Amino acid sequence: MLRYLENLPGKINIPALKDILRQRLEAFDQRIVPAPYRPLLERLSSFVPGPYPCNVSDGVVNIGLSKNLSESEQKKCIEMARTLSPWRKGPFTLFGQRIDAEWRSDLKWERLRPFLPGLKDSVVLDIGCNNGHYLFQMAEHHPRLALGIDPVDQYYAQYQFLQYFKANPLTQMELLGVDELQFFRQVFDVVFSMGVIYHHPHPMLQLEYIHKSLKASGKLILETMTIPGPADYCLFPKDRYAQMRNVWFVPTKEAVISWLDRSGFKDIKPIFDVKLTPEEQRVTEWSTFRSLSDYLDPSNPELTVEGYPAPWRTAFIASLA
Ligand SMILES: C[S@@+](CC[C@H](N)C(=O)[O-])C[C@H]1O[C@@H](n2cnc3c(N)ncnc32)[C@H](O)[C@@H]1O
Repeated sequence: MLRYLENLPGKINIPALKDILRQRLEAFDQRIVPAPYRPLLERLSSFVPGPYPCNVSDGVVNIGLSKNLSESEQKKCIEMARTLSPWRKGPFTLFGQRIDAEWRSDLKWERLRPFLPGLKDSVVLDIGCNNGHYLFQMAEHHPRLALGIDPVDQYYAQYQFLQYFKANPLTQMELLGVDELQFFRQVFDVVFSMGVIYHHPHPMLQLEYIHKSLKASGKLILETMTIPGPADYCLFPKDRYAQMRNVWFVPTKEAVISWLDRSGFKDIKPIFDVKLTPEEQRVTEWSTFRSLSDYLDPSNPELTVEGYPAPWRTAFIASLA
């Protein structure tokens, strides 16, 4: 467990991480609600393990080719993927069959691409990596390691499912949350915090952990939901925001700059600032419940159903020095 962390630069409290992971993995193995993930992943052993060919083209992460599996194996594989639904982030193809997730994650990556720092041979962290869509994108840049952390069982199961076929040791994912970043000191060349800072009650604490986990030459890419509004303000929803229960502070663009500045980040540069649209987040057959259009006021899409300003997506890149 965590052997791949042993030779990284900086300081990592591996025993503390192992203790936490042992408990989380035990719970993961025993959980039968909402899904019995472990038995499902064990069924993967009926397939020849990867690596199968893997690439990213036109924003789609392609794992395996249709000719690598028989028709009945392809069917079985895609049925297993379906039992792990909903798929929030994508798109993927698996042995030629498309997993059309709720989010077109490729659109965000395209916006980031011109601003990406060099990832080759770098130690990269993706906080809140979900099923690892961006880890697969990062792997295309040949990092030394792209580590994803996300504490949600379902997304971990989706990643393990995909990783079985890709089998790439350059990407790893652990059932860890942003709070466990306190066990990393001066380890990472690049940290991505995308779509996660507002899912935690303490944005400043997260930025402190990130700051300490970066090397002196490190860079942060911070992407967040934002609201248009008066400079330097944050919305703190009374209950739900766009139907999400787990949203704490939603900043304006200017407030994000203040957060970064007061956390000691330098050279803060904007990457993008765009309104979130149903082109990017929508219901698909892989995520059938509800999506952005259902979270906006039908008579005024500038507002959420709760009457708050509708979400924008905003990203910055910042340095330690
Ligand atoms: C809106 S999604 C963003 C996913 C991806 N980073 C992206 O930009 O599309 C938020 C992700 O953060 C994860 N998350 C929630 N709380 C977290 C925490 N405390 N630490 C790390 N990740 C967390 C969720 O499980 C989810 O996968």
